Amino acid sequence: MSRISVLDLRKKKADNERIVMVTAYDYTMARLVDTAGVDMVLVGDSLGMVVQGHEDTLPVTLDEMVYHTRCVSRGLKRAHLVGDMSFMSYQVSPEQALANAGRLLKEGRAQSVKLEGGERSAPAIHAIVQAGIPVVAHIGLTPQSVHAMGGFRVQGRGDQGAQVLADAHAVCDAGAFCLVLEGIPMHLAAQITEELPIPTVGIGAGPRCDGQVLVCNDLLGMDLSFQPKFVKRYARLQDTIVDAVGEYAREVREGLFPTEEYSFGVGRPRKIAKLY
Ligand code: KIV
Repeated sequence: MSRISVLDLRKKKADNERIVMVTAYDYTMARLVDTAGVDMVLVGDSLGMVVQGHEDTLPVTLDEMVYHTRCVSRGLKRAHLVGDMSFMSYQVSPEQALANAGRLLKEGRAQSVKLEGGERSAPAIHAIVQAGIPVVAHIGLTPQSVHAMGGFRVQGRGDQGAQVLADAHAVCDAGAFCLVLEGIPMHLAAQITEELPIPTVGIGAGPRCDGQVLVCNDLLGMDLSFQPKFVKRYARLQDTIVDAVGEYAREVREGLFPTEEYSFGVGRPRKIAKLY
């Protein structure tokens, strides 16, 4: 089975076929979401919050992004892999952006990279694309700008909409092949999707984007205390996991696990590999 390419993704827009993107941060989740048939897997710097436990994405390093991207790449047979560029790994200069984008492909085995920002990120996008690396742009609510935005707030309401529209055109003109629209009014996302030749993928941007992306932990309900308006939970794994581990703990404490069924008798020692 071959991997989904940027050409396949562009064709999906032309054919009016929705694009499904989800995040993953490790090999096991990558295998699961790939088996489920998603088109794109994003190793997002959201891992700073859902894997590392930080309150925002700013502390994540490029080394960490490379590591997680490489883990995810081993679990994918079909989906297109996007590696996210961490805070301050591309803002300094187009040269810095290109060198770090290269690491995500060379060491992380990503097929494309994502970076945040509109007009201000256009020179970085241009430099990366000129070197033959496909770029997914990301505008609207850009979490790495949390302090500039005064919190995680919807962007592009009222007069602000013109700037978001200008950002969308700027990243497209700079050569991005796909655009993530996060936390903007749905009518603005629809307008951008109509005006741009490249596919848009929305998160909190309404139904009229070319595709949708969600953080895997959110759609799987792994933290039920976190419920932003744009997240639909398709499972409640928090309950499933807490119940299962609680049952295991009870059986161990009561001497009910392991029984003979899960134990080895005397006899020739087996090779470790055969234990699994
Ligand atoms: O880091 C991330 O997971 C993202 C998506 C939410 C688009 O940027």
